[in-house]
Amino acid sequence: MNTIYLDSGSGDEVRRQRLYAGQIFVISPRPATVALCEFAKQMIEDAFGSVDPLEAQYQMPVEQYVAIVSPLKPKFIHHPETKKLLRELVADCGCDLNETYLDVPRLRMVTSHGYLTSGVGYAHHLHRDTWYSAPLAQLNWWLPIYGIESESSMAFHPAYWSKGVKNGSSEFNYYTWNSDGRKNAAQHIKTDTRKQPKAEEEMEVDPQIRIILPPGGVILFSAAQMHSTVPNTSGRARYSIDFRTVNLADLRAGRAAPNVDSHPVGTSLRDFVRGSDGAPMPDEVVQKYDNAPAGEGVLVYRPAEA
Ligand SMILES: [Fe+2]
Repeated sequence: MNTIYLDSGSGDEVRRQRLYAGQIFVISPRPATVALCEFAKQMIEDAFGSVDPLEAQYQMPVEQYVAIVSPLKPKFIHHPETKKLLRELVADCGCDLNETYLDVPRLRMVTSHGYLTSGVGYAHHLHRDTWYSAPLAQLNWWLPIYGIESESSMAFHPAYWSKGVKNGSSEFNYYTWNSDGRKNAAQHIKTDTRKQPKAEEEMEVDPQIRIILPPGGVILFSAAQMHSTVPNTSGRARYSIDFRTVNLADLRAGRAAPNVDSHPVGTSLRDFVRGSDGAPMPDEVVQKYDNAPAGEGVLVYRPAEA
């Protein structure tokens, strides 16, 4: 990777090919992206009441913070307004909703100085989403809800775009993870015992790139990109939205990022529904990418992050 495209005029097709080549796109705040962030912000502020969500950690024990934010996540994911705003955002950013499939948008919070570092506030180590069964054609969208600083951002580690590392992805089974991993996240307040595919060699954090953008701006990147959550030392919590898209024509044609080191079992493709009408991913497309024993994905699959 070598380029960050800011408000590129290229259409979605060219943009996707560049994303699969490791480039990163940044979209400035626009009405449709701001609308989704404002909706999330309102939901957060309603949940915290008179407490400032950015500084709530200084006013309550971590268990109380978790009790407030845990219900927020599913509430945001499943709200009909969220789904509507998400579709509008993706269309407004140039994607054809008949060809673009979406998963659910996640609301994440990263508190400062390790107040909450696991479970619902898990700070992600260096990883590729493709280690976790994301398809190589997956694109990640990331939006800050409030202003961020370098000390509360996310980082890309570009040297690893074309360099594989030893990692635990081959021991990761997406279907097993869904059946007994996520549903227990709220119980993991101080330690997280869920088995995650991690790098199994010393990782070089630098060189790294952090993109600081206003609330409602979007960072768009390939799921194969090595990235991490910057340990938040800004003194204020970070709240962000992320979601994923895949393009059906690209899946059928096999257009995607190169695979340098991802070998998980199963695929997250069943999590995606068509943008235009919520239709499921066609089964023959899922089968093309599902390397699990026959039937396993259907039997143990659970909808993501209920
Ligand atoms: Fe990630």
